[in-house]
Amino acid sequence: METTQVQVAKKLTDEHVAFLENVMMKGGPEQRDYKTFNQLVNSLDESGIEELRDILSPVLNNTETMHGFAYSKPFGYAGDFKIIDMIYENKVTSDPRYKNWDIWWNSEYASRAVRNRKDYFINICSELEKKSEGPKEVLVLGSGPATDIYEYFVKNPDSNLTFDLIDLDENAIEYAKEKNRKFSDKMNFFRINVLRFKTHKHYDLIWSAGLFDYFKEKHFIYLLKKYLPFLDENGEMVIGNFSSYNPTRKLMEALSGWYLNYRSDYDLYKMAAEAGVKGEQMIVNKEPLGVNLFLRIKKSEESFIEFREPISKVAEYSVN
Ligand SMILES: C[S@@+](CC[C@H](N)C(=O)[O-])C[C@H]1O[C@@H](n2cnc3c(N)ncnc32)[C@H](O)[C@@H]1O
Repeated sequence: METTQVQVAKKLTDEHVAFLENVMMKGGPEQRDYKTFNQLVNSLDESGIEELRDILSPVLNNTETMHGFAYSKPFGYAGDFKIIDMIYENKVTSDPRYKNWDIWWNSEYASRAVRNRKDYFINICSELEKKSEGPKEVLVLGSGPATDIYEYFVKNPDSNLTFDLIDLDENAIEYAKEKNRKFSDKMNFFRINVLRFKTHKHYDLIWSAGLFDYFKEKHFIYLLKKYLPFLDENGEMVIGNFSSYNPTRKLMEALSGWYLNYRSDYDLYKMAAEAGVKGEQMIVNKEPLGVNLFLRIKKSEESFIEFREPISKVAEYSVN
């Protein structure tokens, strides 16, 4: 099938089926098939997606593959610590029947954006470390495998940062503890729902990625209000959220049953304003692909003053 031949269709055509069967025989799509595959998936309605899942069932039911692991959800929910860590590791099965599937998975926008957000976090930690001498405290909400922290410590063995990590999943905590064994003196784990965590501490940085995308607007705003008082006077909160621009969205939903609350810069500014944050206090960054957004909020109202021009229009979202 030529890439240009895929028509907008709701169900699978005979041509689609032939294409998919060929892809299955090859152990997954080759690079030249990616565009066709994406177009095909984007053209399907729910019944077409069911047919597609049927044809791909040997992959979707095989937890040794990235698609199969994501689709089967062995830990009971989408985006568990293990799939996230496999994305960080660019994991590709050695089984030739499935290898191309994993190569494709890892080359998609969403996977690359997840790896980019780890690099973004490592940069934020470096910036924090350079800001001033002395110990600094970081709180991580929904810490998962804590691979980002592991890589930070590997690069910065003399770091002055200590991390408090919150995750609801006991398996995630055990996995992250084992992975970070060498750095255990700089990490404290809390197995609790972020909605219920309490502390008397004040943090230099509160970071969260891959968590707020699962919360509805009401809980997103509630969490901003809850955690902002836990920031130090010069502290900063950085919240990641998948952008409304995610070319992998339909693939994630169709082949992995992975649904997120996608948000724009505007959505993030608006929710922060509703949580009482002033325009000068916030800015939205993105990783190089623009697929992961980061809402940055400083405790001090004047902190983003140097960026006032580009974000001045956020004042109009202010609810106060
Ligand atoms: C997609 S992973 C992201 C992990 C990590 N932040 C990263 O980017 O590598 C989301 C993590 O949040 C945890 N989680 C989900 N809901 C939570 C909640 N309400 N409270 C605490 N942790 C939660 C999950 O157990 C999972 O480990």
